[in-house]
Amino acid sequence: MHVGILTGGGDCPGLNAVLRAVVRRGTQAHAAEILGFRDGWRGVLDDDTMELGTAAVTGILQRGGTILGSSGADPIRATGGVDRVLTALRAHGLDGLIVVGGEGTLGAAARLSGEHDVPVIGIPKTIDNDLPGTDVTVGFHTAAQVATDAIDRLHSTAESHDRVILVEVMGRHAGWIAVYAGMAGGADVILIPEQPFDLEEVCARIRHRHISRTSFSIVVVAEGATPAPGTLVLPEPELDPNGFPKLGGLATLLAPEIARLTGYETRVTILGHLQRGGSPVAFDRMLGTRFGIRAMDLAAAGGWGRMTSRRGQEILDVPLAEALGPRALVPLDLYRDAEVFFG
Ligand code: F6P
Repeated sequence: MHVGILTGGGDCPGLNAVLRAVVRRGTQAHAAEILGFRDGWRGVLDDDTMELGTAAVTGILQRGGTILGSSGADPIRATGGVDRVLTALRAHGLDGLIVVGGEGTLGAAARLSGEHDVPVIGIPKTIDNDLPGTDVTVGFHTAAQVATDAIDRLHSTAESHDRVILVEVMGRHAGWIAVYAGMAGGADVILIPEQPFDLEEVCARIRHRHISRTSFSIVVVAEGATPAPGTLVLPEPELDPNGFPKLGGLATLLAPEIARLTGYETRVTILGHLQRGGSPVAFDRMLGTRFGIRAMDLAAAGGWGRMTSRRGQEILDVPLAEALGPRALVPLDLYRDAEVFFG
């Protein structure tokens, strides 16, 4: 059989583990030939391909990024996009496509599958960990580890200088990285999109900590955190070329306010794309590998219109349409556990 594959949306560690597993499983168990499309859906729309044989995926398991490249191209919004996808499938004699993506890339895959009968299998990845239909996405654990390591390092310098340090992490709609890294790193306050914050309360917690216990604090701020209604007013973010708000920099807006309200010297570290780069942790190599095997087996069995998923310890598959469901947000009880250590 012939199967196409692409990696779309924001890159993350673990994508190369997926590609390696699809190719190895495909060639060994299903006599499949795998064709890579470069830069996500752009490669399908522009017919930009790369042969993916065993040699191409040798030595990539531990490498960050994706050897196929990635982009936010969207075949549903592109002119003639659906026809261009069907043309690419026909031109290369493909049985279907394995699409590795987050909300945008898999959302397009789900619509192509549901509305236009395009044979697609999805693999969920995003450092934000907010995709529905799976407990965890490829890339999240590495990002959480990078952020945890950063918080560990910031502790000692915050302590030496009696400073408040705001560590801004990614997390557009969900605070998974903030909560995991914040809890694992022993943060003193964690701000996430799911729980609008009152900066006066944040400052009260910091003051309480400095008066009663120690003279430094680490505050983890998810980039998508928002002030509670009727509290702080922040400027509207700019839009990126796809029309989505460009996030990053919230901590820079909060720091002077915290310094003013507490009187403590306050500094900012924005981790940004550090969280998406570099070598995947073991968990993401495993998850990517197991998702890749599952997706290839599904393709061989004609299981189009499905998405790989991890539930508990099990790797399974669910309808790809689940990717269009409500985002997976941080549950309140997890945040309540994080709050035990605030202030
Ligand atoms: O969705 C993954 C993510 O890393 C978000 O956490 C972040 O807001 C966004 O991508 C950044 O995207 P870009 O690299 O396109 O600015």
